[in-house]
Amino acid sequence: MDRNARVLVAGATGYLGRNIAVALHDAGFRVRALARDPRRLDPIRPACDEVFVGAATRPETLAGLCDDVDVVVSSVGLRTLRGKPTPEQVDLGANLNILARAREAGVGRFLFVSVLHAAELAERVPILRPREEFTHRLVDSGLTWTVLRPTGAFNDMAEIFRLAARGAGMVFGDGRYRINPVHPRDIGDLVAESIRDSALVDQEFGFGGPDTYTAAEIVELAQRVLGRRRRPWHLPYWPVEALSAALRPINRNASGFLRFFCESLGRDMVGTPIGQRHLVDYFAALAAGTDTGSR
Ligand SMILES: NC(=O)c1ccc[n+]([C@@H]2O[C@H](COP(=O)([O-])OP(=O)(O)OC[C@H]3O[C@@H](n4cnc5c(N)ncnc54)[C@H](OP(=O)(O)O)[C@@H]3O)[C@@H](O)[C@H]2O)c1
Repeated sequence: MDRNARVLVAGATGYLGRNIAVALHDAGFRVRALARDPRRLDPIRPACDEVFVGAATRPETLAGLCDDVDVVVSSVGLRTLRGKPTPEQVDLGANLNILARAREAGVGRFLFVSVLHAAELAERVPILRPREEFTHRLVDSGLTWTVLRPTGAFNDMAEIFRLAARGAGMVFGDGRYRINPVHPRDIGDLVAESIRDSALVDQEFGFGGPDTYTAAEIVELAQRVLGRRRRPWHLPYWPVEALSAALRPINRNASGFLRFFCESLGRDMVGTPIGQRHLVDYFAALAAGTDTGSR
């Protein structure tokens, strides 16, 4: 694909989307960023060649969204503990609205950012089902598609680091399950590369970062970077499972994310290793207050 191709980034105001937009811009693509509140693009404004103001959940605001666009990348998704909106409205509905505009405009390719192992996890984690439903709709859409499935990104690991910094190293269960967390910029570079080289066409790709750790080793790494050495607390899963069950009738999102948290920590979440950026350097940047990866 032509380096000057125009790429719509839906989700560009979010953690992954910001990094995807910057990586695409640095790779020479023309970036059109979708934002419902354009001020949220301020940290990456120089990477946005065009800004389209519209709300992905409101189709009436999306007319012309994909005009003259060659490729769409969407990382639009729900990550809120508030009760509303629902994953049906965002993970499925908003992405279907974008897909409809892409089809209308004759876009050549649609890349969607989903979650590693979500198809299996969705059997026990209902909050993942609308996102999985969207992947099916995309595959059946007739467009050239790619579904990228990253494991947990570095922002999730930052929580572990902050707890360790407060002296509370914690792992769930015996901490033996493995994960290879990935830097969001490595996800962005993968998107740029796969557009440029027409790789991963009509494929799913499950991946993570270059280093694999057990949950206990991530806590140890954080403590090492902080110059501490303390035995971490081992917390059982059941209080979180009980809280998830108690919240179900009141707040389906909070309940669902707690469920996802338990299920994803209760298994290996290791994908094909990609990228150059290491968790130890990210933790060191957090310790020094110089992290730029999160933007
Ligand atoms: N971060 C990770 O560790 C990770 C790892 C694997 C997979 N993923 C997948 O990637 C997706 C994005 O992750 P992220 O960390 O980038 O999330 P994020 O920072 O919360 O970004 C989500 C994006 O979706 C948009 N959005 C959310 N609700 C919306 C609504 N009601 N109407 C319009 N737009 C809405 C947000 O727009 P606003 O800025 O306007 O709210 C933002 O651009 C997740 O949903 C997940 O499926 C994430």
